[in-house]
Amino acid sequence: MANFGIIGCGRMGKNHAKGISTGTDGKVVAVYDPNPEAAAFMHETYGAEVMQNAEVLAAHPKVDCVIVTSPTYCHLEGVRAAVLAHKHIFCEKPVDRTWEAALETERLVKGYDKLFTIGFVRRYLPKTRRLKALLDEGFLGRVRFCNVDLPLGAFKRLYGDWFADFGKSGGVCIDMLAHHVDLCNWFFGTPERIYADGMLLDQTQELPSDHVASVVTYENGVICNLMCNWQRFGRSGEVMEIYGEKGAISMDGSNDLTYYPLGGAKQVISLETICHSLGEQNVNVASGYLLEMQELNDAIDGKTALPKPSIQDGMNSLKVGLKMIDSIRSRQVERW
Ligand SMILES: NC(=O)c1ccc[n+]([C@@H]2O[C@H](COP(=O)([O-])OP(=O)(O)OC[C@H]3O[C@@H](n4cnc5c(N)ncnc54)[C@H](O)[C@@H]3O)[C@@H](O)[C@H]2O)c1
Repeated sequence: MANFGIIGCGRMGKNHAKGISTGTDGKVVAVYDPNPEAAAFMHETYGAEVMQNAEVLAAHPKVDCVIVTSPTYCHLEGVRAAVLAHKHIFCEKPVDRTWEAALETERLVKGYDKLFTIGFVRRYLPKTRRLKALLDEGFLGRVRFCNVDLPLGAFKRLYGDWFADFGKSGGVCIDMLAHHVDLCNWFFGTPERIYADGMLLDQTQELPSDHVASVVTYENGVICNLMCNWQRFGRSGEVMEIYGEKGAISMDGSNDLTYYPLGGAKQVISLETICHSLGEQNVNVASGYLLEMQELNDAIDGKTALPKPSIQDGMNSLKVGLKMIDSIRSRQVERW
């Protein structure tokens, strides 16, 4: 049974505390948040001890693993405290807001003999793991292109919130799109060229919103079209479509995959079929976050578990997002 300390008790801190307490035999024993109300909620709900800063939390003798769910631009201080205390670390994506802070994070965890992983939650979903296996075994033949459609029509954050501050969150390029950029990197390898246009959370708007349209071409020739936005109205959803020589596979917000074979009718690859192909029977996919915490808990307990997204995966996703921002500003194609 692992004991967890959570740095940052907002939306994701609460999500992970719920995942730990409902899906694992682990326990949230300590929390830190500069907002006393956020920390008090965790104390009242989970009995966690409220600590006065990240260092004291990480050094708490009962804490085995530090979960960093502070705002993106604060991740480094949480990771640094955890490394100093020599604890396992789960850090939410993206690694940090800037390349400099991410490089410092990489330096801190290079050769680290405890677990360090990044919160790319989609990698734990059965449909994503099955899609990766299908691509690796050449099910679609040579992959030609990929389309990512990721609109959020219910963005509620206001000015004054760190999410609405481009210098703190990086907007959709670094924040929300980080997951699908990570999947593209995982599926297709090393990017080669990155072009984007976008709003960079244009601060002249009455209410904050953001949009990016980008093309990332990989060294193996796969062309990815990635669109992501935070809007105050309109559609919300997620679709990732991958087209190869022999057909296409579409992955949306459901637990299934949809296969469009060349010359054949559309087929749904159900969760049951996916789990069977993966050799897994009772997969609970009520929430990817729950699976993520179960995997983290298993890894700390030394049980067999899936490979975890590494600091290198986090760096590669962040680098693509930062290159998108460079491209928006320069109006040029950026090279990897
Ligand atoms: N994996 C995912 O699907 C996913 C989804 C949403 C957010 N995130 C990431 O999780 C992180 C947190 O996002 P959120 O939505 O929970 O944000 P949030 O604004 O809801 O919560 C952040 C919390 O951190 C606290 N905080 C502020 N400064 C702090 C500091 N220096 N140390 C500790 N805590 C501090 C705030 O008081 C707040 O309670 C971000 O990096 C974000 O990009 C990941």
